[in-house]
Amino acid sequence: TTVAVMFGGCSPEHDVSWESAAYVVAGLDRERHALVLIGIDRQGIWHLVNEEVLGVADQARDEQLRQGQHVMLAPGGGGRLIYPDWTAAHRDLPRQVDMVFPVLHGPGGEDGTLQGLLEQAAVAYVGNGVTASAACMDKAVCRRLLHEAGLPVLPALTLAAGQRLSYAQACLQLETSILMVKPVGQGSSVGISKVEQASEFQAALESARSYGPRVMIEPALARPRELEIGMLERSDGHRQWSAVAEIELAPAYRFYSYQAKYMDAEAISLRLPAELAEDVAARIRDLADRACQVLACEGLARVDFLLSPAAGGMIYINEINTMPGLTRHSLFPALWRRQGCIDRQVIAMLLAHAER
Ligand code: DAL
Ligand code: MG
Repeated sequence: TTVAVMFGGCSPEHDVSWESAAYVVAGLDRERHALVLIGIDRQGIWHLVNEEVLGVADQARDEQLRQGQHVMLAPGGGGRLIYPDWTAAHRDLPRQVDMVFPVLHGPGGEDGTLQGLLEQAAVAYVGNGVTASAACMDKAVCRRLLHEAGLPVLPALTLAAGQRLSYAQACLQLETSILMVKPVGQGSSVGISKVEQASEFQAALESARSYGPRVMIEPALARPRELEIGMLERSDGHRQWSAVAEIELAPAYRFYSYQAKYMDAEAISLRLPAELAEDVAARIRDLADRACQVLACEGLARVDFLLSPAAGGMIYINEINTMPGLTRHSLFPALWRRQGCIDRQVIAMLLAHAER
């Protein structure tokens, strides 16, 4: 079968996606699958590119993509990739792909919009469908669904477009003085700020709103433990869970930011598995499983938790990532390696699930 790996995209996680794509391409069994690589540039245009571009450094990436030929999907075309130039399309037979692996993070790739397009084009694709992708990408919607299902989430305020709120009002309603201010629809901590005093609040709101009109405000826990667990779904529908890992943040960081995630090798250390009492680890696995059930997750997910030592070990679901980072800094591949599941097996499982 021919697998089209799609990467890049218009989201702020464009560069994260390049590195995740390298993992997928390296793990693809080339004896079983032909590879078609589609790089989406920052404007959202699709280009057919060679594998070599994955090794290109950040600055030169868009230029590299633009040298590739434009491609698009034909809706209802049974997974046909076509060239937009009809004359060319008649000369070269349109290329056929059997499956798409959208290794895209953030809006436009992980939020259900691309998944919807793939549904319309009747192409099989790896990972979560439209509903789970859309619901999990929207932190406020996801939080409400989890809360409604009786799962533990932090209290939060959601500001609609243009809605105003003062720091004092937010603190009063959330019963705290330290806040996390987040755009509702981004990943990798893009646009998130921690606010510890009134003077920081407006800038935090503006930063979050630069990514979209809706903003979510939560109380910030005091030095929470960051715990994460990975899910891979077998093609028979059984969800397999990794061990729980802990991400320990260097004291210099006020929270687990984009910088800490990707830019500073010293920022975090991984505990794999996390040091947890067996019943706590089991509870996390159970909560993650119920969260995936509620959000209709398919194929893969990484569920992130916060454990508050200050609040007697209270556990909260922080979020669900429907296309978790697969970079060399990312946790998801490490979780499975620890389980004895090598990269190639992870990719094979994802493709098998998509093929069902
Ligand atoms: N959004 C990033 C890629 C993650 O969750 O790993
Ligand atoms: Mg995330």
